[in-house]
Amino acid sequence: MVQVEKYKVTDQYPNMKDYDAAYESHDWAEIEKQFSWYETGKFNMAYECIDYNVEKGLGNKQALIFKNNDVIERYTFKEMQDKTNQAANVLKDNANIEKGDRIFIFMPRSPELYFALLGSLKLGAIVGPLFEAFMEKAVKDRLENSGARVLVTTPELLTRVPVDELPSLEKIVVIGDDVSADDKIVDFRKGMNDASTAFDIVWLDKEDGLILHYTSGSTGVPKGVLHAQYAMIQQYYSGKVVLDLKEDDVYWCTADPGWVTGTSYGIFAPWLNGVTNVVVGGRFSPESWYGALEDLKVTVWYSAPTAFRMLMGAGDEVVNQYDLSHVRHVLSVGEPLNPEVVKWGMDVYNRRIHDTWWMTETGAHCIVNFPGMEIRGGSMGKPLPGVEAAIVDDQGNELPENRMGNLALKRGWPAMMRKIWKNDAKYDSYFINDWYVSGDSAYKDEDGYYWFQGRVDDVIMTAGERVGPFEIESKLVEHEAIQEAGVIGKPDPIRGEIVKAFITLKKEYKPSDELKEDIRLFVKNGLAAHAAPREIEFKDKLPKTRSGKIMRRVLKAWELNLPEGDLSALDDD
Ligand code: WT7
Repeated sequence: MVQVEKYKVTDQYPNMKDYDAAYESHDWAEIEKQFSWYETGKFNMAYECIDYNVEKGLGNKQALIFKNNDVIERYTFKEMQDKTNQAANVLKDNANIEKGDRIFIFMPRSPELYFALLGSLKLGAIVGPLFEAFMEKAVKDRLENSGARVLVTTPELLTRVPVDELPSLEKIVVIGDDVSADDKIVDFRKGMNDASTAFDIVWLDKEDGLILHYTSGSTGVPKGVLHAQYAMIQQYYSGKVVLDLKEDDVYWCTADPGWVTGTSYGIFAPWLNGVTNVVVGGRFSPESWYGALEDLKVTVWYSAPTAFRMLMGAGDEVVNQYDLSHVRHVLSVGEPLNPEVVKWGMDVYNRRIHDTWWMTETGAHCIVNFPGMEIRGGSMGKPLPGVEAAIVDDQGNELPENRMGNLALKRGWPAMMRKIWKNDAKYDSYFINDWYVSGDSAYKDEDGYYWFQGRVDDVIMTAGERVGPFEIESKLVEHEAIQEAGVIGKPDPIRGEIVKAFITLKKEYKPSDELKEDIRLFVKNGLAAHAAPREIEFKDKLPKTRSGKIMRRVLKAWELNLPEGDLSALDDD
């Protein structure tokens, strides 16, 4: 194992030098005093992110810097206030939104996405962001399950929305030029031009809904994870002590708001801390990313292991062509962060990469490497003050140090999900006694560091994105040639895992490379590019339980040349 302990840069980050004292003395009631609602009792995330900063005198400060290739747009907090008020007015004038109604947003990153998202929150709506790569089925499942009344999208992406099959969808707000409006379609840009910059924010309670992120499990359709307004307290606090956000920072989180990192840490945490927030559009390339770090003088950078591994693969010469001297704090999330990558970060950027662990369901950081803490390469770090973590067995009993088990969190941390949309039984199934059981296995060492070991279930993490095998299998069997399909994550040096599908064909079809390509495109165009199997293997038969369930565990054992384990449930007819 690579030793990274020698890389201690504690003086650079005085933040959590005395972790134990910070953990012991932590009191969320103290943090609450930082918010306007501590005085008023009135909640609204968008207000805390934007308007409250204007009131505190930050109106002329840069709030959003958007970069897409050579185009850079900048907005101050005051301009954000005006734009989000206008967006709220456009939505209000065109749809009769009530508190708690779902407004979904399906579009590529652009300033307008942020205006629409925060404008929706100002109306008291629950926002549902959808990743731009989703195709028809993925979009339909989510809009249908959530009962979304309004969708904000672009003309290009609207072609993937089966509007006629979504009876709850009353209005579609289209962001583009030359939008032909009718009784269902609203022209956003025209509306913005005409809209007032004054808007009366709809005040909420702390338990009211905020955001609905769909996430994949190992079985069933994607689940809508609902977060409450109160999540802001943990997003704000972790922004301060983990992201280490300070007044003059220029912060860039590379995640798309279609995923939870792109909202909790791409919108809420930086703006709750009144910090300049960078959004970069377009596709990943080492040049465009390093270019953004240099041009915008980014100081705090939050990304993912897959991205760091791709940058590492691009070579050190590329790095040296850019001035990255402003970057003072680097963080990672989404998958295990290899010690090799941490070491490379030290050698090449002269910065530690700080791993953070959390999930869609947790809403905010839970286990992290704090600035100032000793790093142990490969460890996720220690619990955020105010979050109680443990390793438990399947009955919810705490296990001793150095024993592998379920990574669990004591119910009640502020950003905890409040609901699985329309599925209370699923929500309850996450908890054993008072423990939220994460689905990850891990152990805790004698000094309180947590070490990630793997997923307990079949969920696939590819390039930092979580995909459920069931959703892909369901799509695959819609293909005319496919009889049955089983999908697993296959270990991959760059992406963590890739999607691999084992397939049996209907009698009249023969295996071929053309067919593989056709199947790949079928999933790519029907579900999402990141869900398309990068590898396909045709089989005569798939391993199944007696009840007919495909045993992914056995597929994985085949793939990795491991013993197949307990096959007593295997159907051997
Ligand atoms: C799963 C959650 C909210 C973060 C983005 C992904 C894996 C997350 C780490 C880490 C090892 C990690 C876990 C977790 N994961 N962070 N630092 N080290 N694994 O959110 O899509 O809800 O996925 O991502 O397996 O359960 P998500």
